[in-house]
Amino acid sequence: MNSRNLILTCVCTFLCGCSVENILSEKEYNQGINVLPLPQNINVGSGRFIISKSTQITISDDSLGQVADFYARKMQASTGMNVKVTDKKVENAINLSIDRNVGKGLDTELAAESYLLSVKENGVDIKASSLRGLFYGMATLMQLLPAEIESGHEISHAVWSVPVVDISDSPRFKYRGLMLDVARHFISVEGLKKHIDMLASVKINNLHLHLTDYQGWRIEIRKYPRLTAVGGTRIDEYGKEYSGFYTQEEIKDLVKYARERFVNIIPEIDVPGHSLAAMAAYPELSCTGESYDVMNRWGPFPVVLCPGKENMFELLDGVFAEMSTLFPSEYFHIGGDECPKKVWETCPACQRRIKEEGLFDDKEHSAEDKLQSYAISRCEQILKKYGKKLIGWDEILQGGLAPEATVMSWRGEAGGIASALMNHNVIMTPTSGGMYFDHYQGNSQAEPFAWGGYAPIVRSYNYNPVPDTLVKMGKEKYILGVQGNAWTECMYTEDIVEYRVYPRIFAVAETGWTPDGKKDFNDFSRRLNNMAVRMDYHGINYHIPLPEQPDFCRNHVAFTDVASVSFGTSRPIKMVYTTDGTEPDLHSPVYDKPIQTDTTCTIRIRSVLPSGKMSMVREVRVERQSYKEPDTGRTPEHAGLKLHFAPHRCMYISELSEVKEWKDSVLTSIEPIARLRTNQYMNVEFYVAVAEGYFFVPEDAIYEFSSNNTRITVGDYVAVDNDGKPQVNSRYGKSMALKKGWHKIKIEQISNFIGGWNSQHRNSGAVMMRKYGDEKWTDISKDNIKYN
Ligand code: ACM
Ligand code: ZN
Repeated sequence: MNSRNLILTCVCTFLCGCSVENILSEKEYNQGINVLPLPQNINVGSGRFIISKSTQITISDDSLGQVADFYARKMQASTGMNVKVTDKKVENAINLSIDRNVGKGLDTELAAESYLLSVKENGVDIKASSLRGLFYGMATLMQLLPAEIESGHEISHAVWSVPVVDISDSPRFKYRGLMLDVARHFISVEGLKKHIDMLASVKINNLHLHLTDYQGWRIEIRKYPRLTAVGGTRIDEYGKEYSGFYTQEEIKDLVKYARERFVNIIPEIDVPGHSLAAMAAYPELSCTGESYDVMNRWGPFPVVLCPGKENMFELLDGVFAEMSTLFPSEYFHIGGDECPKKVWETCPACQRRIKEEGLFDDKEHSAEDKLQSYAISRCEQILKKYGKKLIGWDEILQGGLAPEATVMSWRGEAGGIASALMNHNVIMTPTSGGMYFDHYQGNSQAEPFAWGGYAPIVRSYNYNPVPDTLVKMGKEKYILGVQGNAWTECMYTEDIVEYRVYPRIFAVAETGWTPDGKKDFNDFSRRLNNMAVRMDYHGINYHIPLPEQPDFCRNHVAFTDVASVSFGTSRPIKMVYTTDGTEPDLHSPVYDKPIQTDTTCTIRIRSVLPSGKMSMVREVRVERQSYKEPDTGRTPEHAGLKLHFAPHRCMYISELSEVKEWKDSVLTSIEPIARLRTNQYMNVEFYVAVAEGYFFVPEDAIYEFSSNNTRITVGDYVAVDNDGKPQVNSRYGKSMALKKGWHKIKIEQISNFIGGWNSQHRNSGAVMMRKYGDEKWTDISKDNIKYN
């Protein structure tokens, strides 16, 4: 405690007779500088500025009242002190003033976001050339204060202090964004406001809302009421309705809320692919006039708007006319990704348009690619009429870019590089750079079910949006910035969306703001511990790294003699564990070396943040086994496995007993079990299949199993259990100590929809195994299966 704090504490204890002061700055997570994103320049001095009852916010003119009032309210709520805003000069104040010289020499938009912040023991000065800069200066001041400033309720007997510092700050990029896909799973206005609060606190200035897709249309358009009346609802495979859309009044409220926090909302209407919800409402938009239901499964699908007819452009004109009055954003997003163009090849209207517009095949582009480009250029013209500029996903390069389009590069950086080389603006959001928040942020064996892919926070953090090629060509100025994308197919609730977005979006915030050379993952990790407390006060369900085995992360470990299980976390965090069946808590043993056991037990282990907040518990079953003898001493007679098949629809293995009529045949290799019928998104057949026989184990060893089939049983031991769970990523493989020879195997496969997934999606049908210590999985081959 410095002398000033000590005196203050003693004085208060003496005067009010209250207990010892709550020195918030001494809490572990409040120590050091926790500003995120890290400012460009920061000099830490000695001493602290203490907010007292006399502290006021002074403003150099009334126009600054908006920013001053915003933060005065925030400070008052947590400190309980009546922080007044005044235009008079007072002592011990936080002084906000406009200084046109701040950010001078920078690009206009970067200059507007720049600020100077000087904290001295007797006051704080924040200067910027715009309100936005002052807002960011105050945001930094909030982060210099203890995390409890975010509490939103009065914390009594607390000392609120800020270290003496000098900061001069400006962003690296003008665009720093988050995309939320509210089409697949809707996010309430209240939920979006929570995100906006967090984004504003880390100086993210764009929220991109993906408002329409195959699975829903989520914004009221008065001219076309069926877009939400029909397109806003889907019925799932089990008859349950899923609905939601924003009324125009709600959008106005949301946009106002975002503007007060200097967050721009970019709306996306995804065309000409990803438009099935609109076609469900207005079938004349399709090439065939065919009517569809709003899709209740995850795509993409071969369904597309018809750019041969005028309906599509008339609709978009009406939509953008209304939306342009709701969203002040300079940019509107028109999607343009994953457009299936096959239907256009046989559509008379599309082919007529190709002819009329001279969109013929050439060496680089097909006529249909050019038709897509034609459609996007028409979108650009419509947007222009309403004073808006177009952004599209990188597929809008196909067939040639619309004249003034900005490109969001998601399929790696190639599209972004190609666009910048043609002097088009680019926002980088590549899957390869950790910008896809539907990807796993930890090992898929440990984490809750996600889309797939791997994007740990360190990958998101280390991403540099400016490729060397562009620097060499002098084109880096076309990189406007960076964005993280939360596609919500696998994010079934708002809580899960938060779990996937936070804290990875803070990595995007720092990448977008801080010079690359100043980024430091270890220091960022330390600052995340402070951000975690702030998120707690905002009720954000953020990800806490789970304990994972560093080499082979499994939930089931088999051993024959003694087991040693090691754990680590994706950033340095304490772990606590038990092996006696109890829930680990703050008093449980701290993990500091591999856990050894010679008896069967369940390790329950979780991470603990400096705030005391704990992660979910990971359970790892550690099972002592003796080698299982082969089920038959003789080589079975026939090649393949016995197959029982029935065109029956069910969800769980337990329902197989209801199947009366099985058709028997032989499966010559395992994989086709997943392809017994058409394996397409649009036209899935429901069936059950059971294959039985023996497989050959090549040597005595402990083997681990994995499969996306519903259940795999070895002998009478369930080795893989995906029963009733989305099977796109198997997470349920177990391990077995097996002797060389022929062992019984039963493979069960249910073809159905689970959580919007076709259970055959990404299921090769294979049963994979690997020996402990091996990196590589191998499929059980057709030579190693037999039956009697
Ligand atoms: C995308 O991920 N389809 C842009
Ligand atoms: Zn057509």
